[in-house]
Amino acid sequence: MPNDDRPDGVDWAPANIDRSWVSEAVRLVEADANRSADTHLHVLPLPAEWGIDVYLKDESVHPTGSLKHRLARSLFSHALVNGNLREGMTVIEASSGSTAVSEAYFARLLGLPFVAVVPASTSPAKLELIEFYGGSCRLVDDPGSVYEVSHRLAERTDGYFMDQFTYAERATDWRGNNNIAESIYGQIARERYPVPDWIVVGAGTGGTAATIGRYARFKRHRTGLCVVDPEGSAYFDAWSTGRWEVTAPGSRIEGIGRPRMEESFLPNVVDAMIRVPDAATVAAMRWTSAMIGRRVGGSTGTNMWGVLRIVADMLRTGRTGSIVTLICDGGERYADTYYADRWVGAQGLDPVPYAAAIDALVTGGTVPAALTTGGRCRKPHRDTSIPNGRSAVMLGPRRG
Ligand SMILES: Cc1ncc(COP(=O)(O)O)c(C=O)c1O
Repeated sequence: MPNDDRPDGVDWAPANIDRSWVSEAVRLVEADANRSADTHLHVLPLPAEWGIDVYLKDESVHPTGSLKHRLARSLFSHALVNGNLREGMTVIEASSGSTAVSEAYFARLLGLPFVAVVPASTSPAKLELIEFYGGSCRLVDDPGSVYEVSHRLAERTDGYFMDQFTYAERATDWRGNNNIAESIYGQIARERYPVPDWIVVGAGTGGTAATIGRYARFKRHRTGLCVVDPEGSAYFDAWSTGRWEVTAPGSRIEGIGRPRMEESFLPNVVDAMIRVPDAATVAAMRWTSAMIGRRVGGSTGTNMWGVLRIVADMLRTGRTGSIVTLICDGGERYADTYYADRWVGAQGLDPVPYAAAIDALVTGGTVPAALTTGGRCRKPHRDTSIPNGRSAVMLGPRRG
C-alpha cells in the first residue's frame, strides 16, 4: 500500500513488525531450558529412627553453578517479552555475584555486552566467573550504591538494568512451568513424607522464597515456608516487627541478607523466620560438606542451620515429617573465605561451639541450647493461616 494511503503514518501490515531478533533471543533462552536436566534432590542421612527426613535440592549443578541460573533465565525471558531488552543493548545488573555470573552467561548467549555492578568485597572467584562468561565488573565500595550506579550506567549506555531485586518475584512463574517448587514436590512425591513440613531457604532478592511460598499455597500444600537470615540483614527485623523501613549494615554471607527490604521479598508468603549467626553458618556449611562429600556455599550453611533448628524442635516435641532445603551453590567459590580459617578468624567468627552443637544433635540425639534459643519468629498476627496441627507454640514463643 503506497505511503500516502496511511493517514496516521502507521504501517499496519503485521508482516512489517520486525521481531526477528527478539524471537531468536526467546528461542535461545528456551533452548537453554530444554537442554537442562532437572537438579537432583538428595537425602541427608540422619538417624532413621528419628522419623525426620531432610532433603537437599542441589542447585549447584546448574550450568552456571547456582540457583541463580533459573532466575537469570526467567529475568531474560521477562525482559524480552516485555519489549525491554532489545538488540545491541548492554545488560546491567546489581548483584552479589551469583546472579551476575548467570546473567553474563545468558547475555553472551544473546550476543549482548554485560556489566555487573558488585560490592568490592565480592569473592575474586566470582569476579573471574563473570569475566569467564564474557561480562565485565564495576566494583563499588558501598554495597548500598549498587542500585543507583546500575541505573546511571543503563542511562549512560542506553542499556537495560535487569534489576533482579525488583523483578525476581515477577519474572518467575509461581504456578509451575518447572519452577523450583514444582520440581521439589515432584521429586519428593514417593518419599515416606511426600509433603514437606517445612521448606527452608535464605533470601537475597526473596524471589526463591516467593516462588516456593506461592506455589505451596497455590497447590494447597500444608508446607510452611521458613526463611533464614544472616547477620547484618534487614529482613528478620523488618519481618518480625512489621517495620519495613528497617535498614542494616549488609550481610557477609554472599547471596543472602540485604541492607534493606527488597521489592521481591514478599513478607506474607513467609510463615517463619530464623536469624542465623554467621559462625553457625560456617559450622553448618562445613558439616553439610562433610556429610555429602563435597563443598557447599555459605548460604547453604545458613539454610542448614535453620533446618537443624527445626529438626531439634521436632525431636524435642516428638514430631515426624520431612524438611527440604537448597544447596544454593558450590563451595569452590569460597575457598578463600568461609573455608579459610584465617578469613573466618579475621571476621571474629568462632564456629567451634556451633559445630559441637550440631555434633551433639546428630550423633547424640540431644538438643543443645544453641539449637533451641535465639533468633526465631513466627508471624504473630497470621497464626490463623498456620496449617492445622501446628500450634503457634511449635517453634517456641513468638520471638526467640
Ligand atoms: C548463593 C546464593 N544463595 C541464595 C540466594 C538467594 O536467592 P534469592 O535471590 O532467590 O532470594 C542467592 C541470591 O543471590 C545466592 O547467590
